[in-house]
Amino acid sequence: MIEAVTNESEAFIEQRWDDYLPEQHQIWSLLFSRRMAQLRETGSNVFCEGIERIGLVADRVPDLELVNARLEALTGWRAVPVSGFLDPKLFFKCLSQRRFPTTVIVRTREQLDYLPEPDIFHDVFGHVPLHSDPIFADFLQRFGVVAASAETEEEVSLLTRLFWFTVEFGLIEENGITKVYGSGLISSAADCAKALGPNCERRPFSLDAVFKQDFEVDKLQPVLFVVKSFNQLFEAVEEAQSTFRKAALR
Ligand SMILES: [Fe+2]
Repeated sequence: MIEAVTNESEAFIEQRWDDYLPEQHQIWSLLFSRRMAQLRETGSNVFCEGIERIGLVADRVPDLELVNARLEALTGWRAVPVSGFLDPKLFFKCLSQRRFPTTVIVRTREQLDYLPEPDIFHDVFGHVPLHSDPIFADFLQRFGVVAASAETEEEVSLLTRLFWFTVEFGLIEENGITKVYGSGLISSAADCAKALGPNCERRPFSLDAVFKQDFEVDKLQPVLFVVKSFNQLFEAVEEAQSTFRKAALR
């Protein structure tokens, strides 16, 4: 297990973009080009448009100040540099404030295809383009509000499933074709191939189905869920909150 950061003063750091080495820009470039070649076919249009809207390019590691200038003008979201995995409560609080915690390290060449912890490619390339979409932006903030106010371990664990099967590993049907939008699928060729291939069971998304579905981290996912639009995600968060409230009154 990688230890989570609980203390706000240790969590937030500066990116120091000028310190990236030529080798790190080259690794970003390689990752970006390889994934985009496939995602133009397999990635959600919302993701592909988001890449353009926030100005991510192949030739250099993104400077978060420049990304945020564009992103904030579109939806009010910011990508905030952090030192590592945040404690869930702190992570949810950030989401509720339209701040997305992003690691800023670049993986090494030996880790090109897989690394267990997040890096800037997973966090910024994988997550941040969707934050430029108004509906996804509202969903993610609302998720943060509901998750930050979760009162029991069970509620947190159910919301973690919702996050996993949407933000991290979500699929969406666009013009009759199933595309990837979850960051784990966007940032990894192997996860994406499994998700769209014959050995993954793709089920229609519903909150109830997701709440019943367990998952294993660090495995290729055998079951995933397909939404018809991001409106379904926003509705699912509202449904989750009203389910929790009803349970609390019993
Ligand atoms: Fe992620």
